[in-house]
Amino acid sequence: MNNSIGFIGAGNMGGAIIKGLLSGGSRSASDLIVSDPREKALSELSTAFPGIRTSGDNSEAASASLLILAVKPQVYERVIKGIRDRIAPKTVIVTIAAGLTLEKVRGWFGGKVKVIRTMPNTPALISEGMTAICPGSDIEDEELQAVQDIFDAVGRTVILSEHLMDAYTSLAGSSPAWVFMFLEALADGAVREGLPRKIAYEIAAQAVSGSARLAVESGLHPGILKDQVCSPGGATIEAVSTLEEAGFRSAIIRAVSDCTAEARKLGDK
Ligand SMILES: NC(=O)c1ccc[n+]([C@@H]2O[C@H](COP(=O)([O-])OP(=O)(O)OC[C@H]3O[C@@H](n4cnc5c(N)ncnc54)[C@H](OP(=O)(O)O)[C@@H]3O)[C@@H](O)[C@H]2O)c1
Repeated sequence: MNNSIGFIGAGNMGGAIIKGLLSGGSRSASDLIVSDPREKALSELSTAFPGIRTSGDNSEAASASLLILAVKPQVYERVIKGIRDRIAPKTVIVTIAAGLTLEKVRGWFGGKVKVIRTMPNTPALISEGMTAICPGSDIEDEELQAVQDIFDAVGRTVILSEHLMDAYTSLAGSSPAWVFMFLEALADGAVREGLPRKIAYEIAAQAVSGSARLAVESGLHPGILKDQVCSPGGATIEAVSTLEEAGFRSAIIRAVSDCTAEARKLGDK
């Protein structure tokens, strides 16, 4: 493979991956060819990363050896049909859209094309993302590694079989929304008890972020970490009981299942 990476779409997710790749120094700006209809987005990239190639025309990005389609899911079919005649047989296509199966994307390209399906999440915007990578059966190790390197630049990666992608989309793609709801609710509770709003959000965010990092870095079971905070007869176990009575854990389990079912429906459309 040569080194060029094309991006079609330089919005939130495309922009985050580009910035992660170039800020971390894992790629040089001249490796990237980016297309987007928004001139402002392109000129900001050119200013931040001199040497990056930008265009309002998708066909230039389509000439790269690895092409990331970072447009909204509803735009995929139109974008693909506009570039499919320019795709070389060895080009590796990377999708980042919920519900779009490898089979559907291959079909839009009109047959045999190398596709890797991925699903990042919004913490990629601060290089703390989680990306699942699902390679088509014809993808070679070197090609998979190149894609994994790209997403490692904006967080962590995991390789998954396609039948697990909908559950993954719920667990990592959608869960940030629920975590933000949890943060907001924590802060609301603290404001109710008299803390100023701004500091309540800061404290809640640090408590959640620190707890998540402790779980990752200690490798301990979440139940053990929970037990460590609960002294016998104390305030925390009282609140654990309140949350259990309110169906806290079962609500989350149901949310993951409902979200997975919706993601699955997107793929069936
Ligand atoms: N944000 C997330 O949480 C997240 C997480 C995981 C995966 N994703 C996936 O990432 C993809 C992009 O999402 P996003 O949030 O980055 O969307 P976004 O911010 O709207 O970015 C998409 C970009 O593509 C541009 N675009 C539209 N039509 C185009 C075309 N025909 N050719 C080239 N560029 C075109 C858009 O320009 P205009 O604004 O002018 O239309 C916009 O700049 C989606 O498939 C989404 O499902 C997003």
